Amino acid sequence: MSTNLFQYELAVTCDDRVRLIGQRPFVIWFTGISGAGKTTVANKLDKLLCAHKKHTYLLDGDNVRNGLCSDLGFTPEGRSENIRRVGEVSKLMCESGLIVITAFISPYKKDRKLVRSLFDTGHFIEVYLETPIEIAAARDHKGLYEKAKNGTLNEFTGFDSDYEPPEKPELRIETEMYDPNESAKYIFSYLETRNLI
Ligand code: ADX
Repeated sequence: MSTNLFQYELAVTCDDRVRLIGQRPFVIWFTGISGAGKTTVANKLDKLLCAHKKHTYLLDGDNVRNGLCSDLGFTPEGRSENIRRVGEVSKLMCESGLIVITAFISPYKKDRKLVRSLFDTGHFIEVYLETPIEIAAARDHKGLYEKAKNGTLNEFTGFDSDYEPPEKPELRIETEMYDPNESAKYIFSYLETRNLI
């Protein structure tokens, strides 16, 4: 824990940047188990937003864990610290005027609650991609379910690591019912109806 720190007001404020870029920043926070489609839907949504000339950035679990969070593992403490860092980075990116999309399992309610508390009301949009574990395991794009089953991967979400589903996400999408393009369009129209874009 650091002490003797000060918090300075920046000369260029978030409002200045919003006026300059001409868009309102917010975060779209995807949560769901591995194989739920977070990365796929997040990328489709990102493409849609970019096609509508919105300035965005997508923070994705695997990518962030290859860099900023490469020192963290998948223990409950490692996952909480991962999400705390991503929340803080998302906040900084929002302050710079960007629309931030995140795709992390983010399995624990308390961590998602903490991140939500960093943002103004209405500027944290939690999107729960709900997928039965059998469907996610059948997709198994990365072969991780197979490894978890044969005991070569520990602390895997849904096996020996918990996933706590959100009770009141802004959006809940059952991913076995909709293809990723439909899901992305559904989120996009939600943003339009809320006058966020
Ligand atoms: S989180 O739980 O801390 O939010 P995060 O989304 O960053 O997880 O990382 C998940 C990604 O790490 C998965 O998409 C998968 O590719 C990889 N991974 C490696 N080991 C595990 C594990 N034990 N449990 C879950 N995902 C894992």
